Amino acid sequence: MSNKSIDWTNLGFKYRRTDCHIRHHFRDGQWDGGQMFHEETIPVHIAATSLHYGQAAFEGLKAFRCRDGKVRIFRPEMNAARMIDTARRIHMAPVPESLFVEAVHRVVAANLDYIPPYGSGGALYIRPLLFGSGPQIGVTPSLEYTFMVLVMPVGPYYQGGLTPVRAIVYDQYDRAAPLGVGNIKVAGNYAAAMEPHERAKQEGFAVELFLDAREHRYIDEFGTANFIALTKNHEYVTPESRSILPSVTNKCLQKIARDLGMTVQRRPVEFAEIPEFAAVAACGTAVVITPVNEIVRGDSVCKIGPARGCVPEMQQLYDRMTAIQVGDDPDDYGWNMELRA
Ligand code: PLP
Ligand code: COI
Repeated sequence: MSNKSIDWTNLGFKYRRTDCHIRHHFRDGQWDGGQMFHEETIPVHIAATSLHYGQAAFEGLKAFRCRDGKVRIFRPEMNAARMIDTARRIHMAPVPESLFVEAVHRVVAANLDYIPPYGSGGALYIRPLLFGSGPQIGVTPSLEYTFMVLVMPVGPYYQGGLTPVRAIVYDQYDRAAPLGVGNIKVAGNYAAAMEPHERAKQEGFAVELFLDAREHRYIDEFGTANFIALTKNHEYVTPESRSILPSVTNKCLQKIARDLGMTVQRRPVEFAEIPEFAAVAACGTAVVITPVNEIVRGDSVCKIGPARGCVPEMQQLYDRMTAIQVGDDPDDYGWNMELRA
């Protein structure tokens, strides 16, 4: 396997084969020590609960080749903790944090050739996956689980970095029920967004924005990212809702925003407030920060911020976050975990 054919400056966000991935199995009440595989396919039991009943979850995080040549993984313990929360809610065997973090290190270390070089703007995307792999035909949790970690080099999810995109709200679709599973990262949440997302793409929108399922009055989040907004008074506003995924990126940006002198408001945010915002963006591991300069809902079109580029405070947030990740700025918060030798 070779990385020779990879154009590091034009990676996009798509599946790419790398050298290997790790698989751990949970059987008889315990996790095994894990094994590396080169094959891209896995044998799965025909009655696996993940296939029938959606006992499946994933995570997403990144490793970066830094300015000093070292490789650093961004806050893996946060993703480990979130995967534990997800596992508990859908009755899967939780992956202990130490096993999760160790598996991530092992896979990254085994695929060093696929980490985009410093300065390319790319990263190694790390995709941990947990699913019920044992057979059940009644609706019952599996007794066996598979935990895998695969990696691939990626560029920005949306081409053009801080180039703004258009978003759409469809009142015919909800992503997450008020007391459902929107606050954890189960695979089914993404299935729920598949149709509105494809429709959005066809209609020329990069992202779809979901509102609270009870009233369609408050903002929840985008299909694959949290919602953030900046006000003219240097406030960073992000929705508080039981139905949205607690984003690692959003937490980091809140910290950075405070240290840049902004006030952070985490509160229910009404859709009707959007015209008052100086800027809106989607934030997440894959999208980093993607400014949204137009939100359409039915016949109403709301334009936000500059038509091109983004407001200086959004740029500052983006610059600080990405500079910490690649070691251009000191990691004062202790977010980066150096790859174990
Ligand atoms: N919301 C959803 C629905 C997501 O899929 C993601 C991506 O993981 C996020 C928010 C952002 O979370 P994070 O910053 O932890 O990647
Ligand atoms: C991530 O940012 O890791 C996500 O989960 C988004 C992904 C569904 C592409």
